[in-house]
Amino acid sequence: MTKRLLIVYYTGSGNTKRMAEEISRGAEQLGVAVEVKRVEECTLEDLAGADGIVIGSPTYFSNVAWQVKKLIDESITLYRGRQLKGKIGGCFTSSGTRRDGEDCVRMLELAFGFHHGVKIVPGIVRTSRDGEKEVSEMCQRYGMEIAKELLS
Ligand SMILES: Cc1cc2nc3c(=O)[nH]c(=O)nc-3n(C[C@H](O)[C@H](O)[C@H](O)COP(=O)(O)O)c2cc1C
Repeated sequence: MTKRLLIVYYTGSGNTKRMAEEISRGAEQLGVAVEVKRVEECTLEDLAGADGIVIGSPTYFSNVAWQVKKLIDESITLYRGRQLKGKIGGCFTSSGTRRDGEDCVRMLELAFGFHHGVKIVPGIVRTSRDGEKEVSEMCQRYGMEIAKELLS
């Protein structure tokens, strides 16, 4: 059966959105059915229903944007039923600096990997110093990596 990957993101000025689109492109190349959603449109049912979940946020004060944290906090109901445990996942951020981006990615890895029990492919960081081509390639490779995990 076709595997379904949900990519959820928030963006303020478009960088994280572009990452989501490139990750989607990468995963689709391996035959995974991808749905890309803004976090404001993502429901808990969307999270519970997907085979894989990738979540992205801009780095705000070394953390995730509140719109993403809101979804994470709401996901406590899924946590109680261990409904995300064992799914495949990933996370990504767009940040001004690498160090702050790594902190943000760590928050996402903690929430989804450590707490929910999602098997996370280590997250990726785009910084404002990175070139568009480089970012696009990194994101597509990441999408492919997640797709391979989903299909294995
Ligand atoms: C409210 C706010 C807080 C930010 N905090 C940080 C930060 O702590 N560290 C950093 O390196 N960049 C920070 N930035 C820069 C953003 O992470 C960066 O511009 C990112 O690419 C935005 O992604 P977006 O285009 O998807 O919104 C901040 C930007 C905003 C608007």
